[in-house]
Amino acid sequence: MIKSQKKATSHEKSVIESARALLYEQALVYYEGKPIGAVAAIPQRPSRFEKGAASTLDLNYTEVFIRDNVPVMIYFLVDGKAEIVRDFLDTCLSLQSDTFETAGVFPTSFTEHQGSLVADYGQRAIGRVASVDASLWWPILAYIYVQRSGDRAWACQPRVQLGLRRFLGLILHPWFRDAPTLQVPDGAFMIDRPLDVWGAPLEIQTLLHGALLSSAGLIQIDLEAKGCCGLLGQSCTERPKLDDFTEQQVVQFRQTISWVKRLRNYLLKHYWVNTKSVQVLRRRPTEQYGDSIVNEHNIQVETIPHWLQNWMGNEGGYLIGNIRTGRPDFRFFTLGNCLGAIFDVLSPFQQQSLFQLISQNRVDLIGQMPMRICHPPLEDTDWRKKTGYDRKNLPWCYHNGGHWPCLLWFLAIAVLRHQQRHSPLREMAILEVLQSSYELLLQRLPQQGWAEYFDGPTGLWTGQQARLNQTWTITGLLLMHHLLRVNPADARIMDLPDLRTLIKLYR
Ligand code: GLC
Repeated sequence: MIKSQKKATSHEKSVIESARALLYEQALVYYEGKPIGAVAAIPQRPSRFEKGAASTLDLNYTEVFIRDNVPVMIYFLVDGKAEIVRDFLDTCLSLQSDTFETAGVFPTSFTEHQGSLVADYGQRAIGRVASVDASLWWPILAYIYVQRSGDRAWACQPRVQLGLRRFLGLILHPWFRDAPTLQVPDGAFMIDRPLDVWGAPLEIQTLLHGALLSSAGLIQIDLEAKGCCGLLGQSCTERPKLDDFTEQQVVQFRQTISWVKRLRNYLLKHYWVNTKSVQVLRRRPTEQYGDSIVNEHNIQVETIPHWLQNWMGNEGGYLIGNIRTGRPDFRFFTLGNCLGAIFDVLSPFQQQSLFQLISQNRVDLIGQMPMRICHPPLEDTDWRKKTGYDRKNLPWCYHNGGHWPCLLWFLAIAVLRHQQRHSPLREMAILEVLQSSYELLLQRLPQQGWAEYFDGPTGLWTGQQARLNQTWTITGLLLMHHLLRVNPADARIMDLPDLRTLIKLYR
């Protein structure tokens, strides 16, 4: 167990104090007199090199992004500021789209303009990308807020339950395929530019898993308050007549649980790899047809890269980046994997294999700046063809193998929560990785202006186009400090409803 009592040095204290001052005094956005979220990056005066480029300097970084506010809201919860989180959730809910084409979608970002809120659902974003992750994060954050604050009455409000109903309507409907994964265009999540992450990218699927569990948990709270929870196990012919709204809640609850069950099985079957499963994959026949086949996505052995052998070794395992017909993506994506552990898509044993993989590849994934967003980067022809010559995503830069300090706290939650909830760690190296990574952040972030991301194979250089004073960089460090030094037990804050318990309710 990491010692929370380790004595803070004066350097650590002053870095934490300045991070808190940046967050509370400069990053918050106010609407009708109340804070409703934080900007993506605190605006800077342009340096002498940047004069003249000032109008493009901030782009939309002064807006409140739902995804960038995830660490901010988690920090407010552990810091006893639950009312800001409630106001943030309410603001996002008031901006949930109700037009026919996009009903249920939450905005990527929003901003205050001349006294009203203006939202971006992708219609103003660079490349007009749609941020599917924003919609998936809302129910997750809402569930975490209710659990932490005990404010069940908030969850029982009709407008909250209506928001969930609209959200679930986006997922629970017929489509052209029967897989339980969510299909999205390129750049639909934190990686919001083309990087060959279209189809069923991991981060979207682990978020979907979390969002479905959270939605079911929030519906359950309302049904309990209405005394209807016992009806969840009854089919529509067995249960008494309910009002239309409650009937719809029961139907959606049941569909959600069956969806999330299929999704978890699917992810473990098609995305999870370790040395054993890769050897099975390599020997599978191709061109199979019909029901009982072993190579459903018709994957050729040449698509399995050789670097996997060294990278996984005998003990490591992880969820691959994407599954598509004939074209699996074996890149390692940090956030999708951490969320796979935090939301218990992965079994406790698999979580340990993931931690093993991360510590044995710390040179790649941590380097000089924890953590790399994905590994390995797309290079040469792949970079040209798959990113469309995107200069921001050059190899080892930005999303394409760059290092993002805002990712480390997700790993800390995954590891510390595993220790508290599941079993002792098979191997303690990952704790040392967390500790030394935190010390690296303490040293480097203030020196390098709390940059958004870092470039190069070790992440030593400030990202070529990185914003400074990036809010999720600042809060990422505050969360690391909280988890390692103040209260490691708060690693349980992202615990979502347990799938097995939910299944029992509707049997
Ligand atoms: C960049 C990142 C995106 C983030 C946004 C605001 O576009 O790729 O993930 O939400 O900046 O910080």
